[in-house]
Amino acid sequence: LFDAGKSREQLLADICAILKEKVYHYDWVGFYLLDENNNELVLGPYVGKPTDHTHIPVGKGVCGQVAESGLSKVVQDVSAENNYIACSIDVQSEIVVPVMKNDKFVAEIDIDSHSAAPFTGEDEQFLGAICEMVAEQF
Ligand code: SME
Repeated sequence: LFDAGKSREQLLADICAILKEKVYHYDWVGFYLLDENNNELVLGPYVGKPTDHTHIPVGKGVCGQVAESGLSKVVQDVSAENNYIACSIDVQSEIVVPVMKNDKFVAEIDIDSHSAAPFTGEDEQFLGAICEMVAEQF
């Protein structure tokens, strides 16, 4: 997966494809990258239904909150989250894990699930390990 010489874009796309295919409760998997000049997140590679939310201001929605805090966020029931941007009515839960480079937020992985409260500490740990490897590409 982490072949030398593979572009960052391709690596992120491959990670999305594998995670969506292998993990039953992952229904939409994508990366948002920080655009520092505009203080917003820009959608990178993803797998799942197209989303209107290709640009998200830092602070807005679950994704924007993680960009601001640099901390993972698990939302087991999106209907109970006030600061949430709905992408699809099928989505019940969401996990967002930051990619940190030298203690600075650079990107995040965002996963939507059609299952209710499917995420455990294992998801966070596993996705955190992936994001640590991804950080080397920034
Ligand atoms: N639900 C996210 C928006 C991105 S979509 O899930 C792809 C949020 O609240 O930030």
